[in-house]
Parts: sequence; C-alpha cells; structure tokens
Amino acid sequence: MPQNSIKIVAIACDHGGVEMKSALVEMLSKDGYEILDLGTNQTTSVDYPDYANELSRALIDGKAFRGVLICGSGIGISIAANRFPQIRAALIHDALGAKLCREHNNANVIAFGGRTLGIETARDCLSIFLNTEFEGGRHERRVAKLLNPHST
Ligand code: RB5
Repeated sequence: MPQNSIKIVAIACDHGGVEMKSALVEMLSKDGYEILDLGTNQTTSVDYPDYANELSRALIDGKAFRGVLICGSGIGISIAANRFPQIRAALIHDALGAKLCREHNNANVIAFGGRTLGIETARDCLSIFLNTEFEGGRHERRVAKLLNPHST
C-alpha cells in the first residue's frame, strides 16, 4: 500500500462470517488500512442482503475504495452485492482467483465463505485483492459492458 495514502476498506458479514471478519479486520488494521466495519458482530441470525446492500451503498458513495463481504458460503452475499450495477463482487476461493478478479474484472468487492474457506487462505486472497491493479486494455470494454447488460 502507498505510504502516503490511507485507504479505507469496507467490510461486512452475516452470522456465518463473524469469525472470519474479525480475523480480516485485524489483518487490515495491522497493514495500515482504515476500516469501515458495517457489522454484524454477533452470531445471531441476520439476513445477508441487508449487509451486502449497506456495503454496496458505502462503496458507491465513495466511503471506501474496496469492500469485503462474508456469509456462510459467500454465495448469497455476493449475489446480493452484484444486484448493484456499479459493484463487481467476486466470490474467491484461491490466490489465482484473487489476482484475476482484479486484473481482468476490476472487482471492487471480494466475497468469502466463512464456512467454506480457511482463514489463512482468506488472508492471502484479501492481500492479493488489495494489492493488484486492473490491467485495463481489452478488459476495459468488457467491464464497461457489465454496467448495462441491455446495451448489447
Ligand atoms: C446463513 O445460514 C447462510 O444461508 C448464509 O450465510 C449464506 O451462506 C447464504 O448464501
């Protein structure tokens, strides 16, 4: 991360992601990021779309530069975030996916399954996600088409 610019990372989860979220918040904080933690912080059952929606709105409003979403599988919360045209949420299971979702898809949200992925792997993937740039070029046109699926 550039030394002179503090970057804000938004993070949110449902009850299936509380443990992973705390581990990732700790990592982000050690790495010098500012964190916009949108909850949940309890294991009481909640609805993942509420957390995906709040994080997506925060990103769209420019309150953070990237987001992290966690639910039990990562599936529901990534589907919910991707309802927003400006959000490109990638459900990631490995380091290569973390790299490619940035280089090719300019993903602005990484999603994890708190019950399906180990915390060490999630840490590695998050670090790659935050430190990899979009390649642009041919991918620019494809990513632009995601904004309006009715245009082609
Ligand atoms: C909650 O039990 C679970 O359904 C949720 O965390 C997620 O896995 C949904 O996709």
